[in-house]
Amino acid sequence: MHILMVYGTKEGQTATIIERMAQIVRNQGHQVTACSVKEIPAAFATDTFDAAMVGGSIHMGAYPPQLRTFVTRHRDWLNTAPSGFFTVCMAIQSKNAAERDAAKAYGSRFVEVAQWHPQLIETFAGAVKYTQYNFITRYIMKRITKREGGSTDTARDHEYTDWDAVARFTRQFLETITQMEEARTK
Ligand SMILES: Cc1cc2nc3c(=O)[nH]c(=O)nc-3n(C[C@H](O)[C@H](O)[C@H](O)COP(=O)(O)O)c2cc1C
Repeated sequence: MHILMVYGTKEGQTATIIERMAQIVRNQGHQVTACSVKEIPAAFATDTFDAAMVGGSIHMGAYPPQLRTFVTRHRDWLNTAPSGFFTVCMAIQSKNAAERDAAKAYGSRFVEVAQWHPQLIETFAGAVKYTQYNFITRYIMKRITKREGGSTDTARDHEYTDWDAVARFTRQFLETITQMEEARTK
């Protein structure tokens, strides 16, 4: 199968997650085309792909705006082909249950508003990339991270992504699309 992987990222962690997913999918003998949502032309021919994985990160409570544009534009195809959606954020790591619930709600709200029905939906912790932030962002992120018990060493970046969870989700996605393909060709 040929799988389209689309990511919306600001500091690169969602792209790194997509790369890991692509590696797993390719190791299973499938073809992958991975692209940033910022680089996808409006007339992109999605219907040449058998399935889609879409991921986006959260900044100030929102996904990159191009992610909604992409999903809305290709909604009909996304609702026909097997698809998965994941969110990358830090609130999913919070000590506060209400914040973790709010983090999970980013994804469910996004697909609801977009009227998209992916088979799989997940939220992963991202990274705190102090070295990429300006002074003010570094200060704010340090305060938030300290409150949540994360590292305040601003001399380097800190990754919180659970790679086992990413691998599990990818394998689940492959199982789902394989089952759907078998049912379709029966
Ligand atoms: C300015 C800024 C705002 C952020 N806002 C949120 C937020 O509202 N909720 C959240 O859970 N995480 C928030 N984060 C954490 C990011 O989602 C996290 O760093 C993620 O790994 C970014 O992914 P990316 O590198 O793919 O852009 C924020 C990070 C930054 C730098």
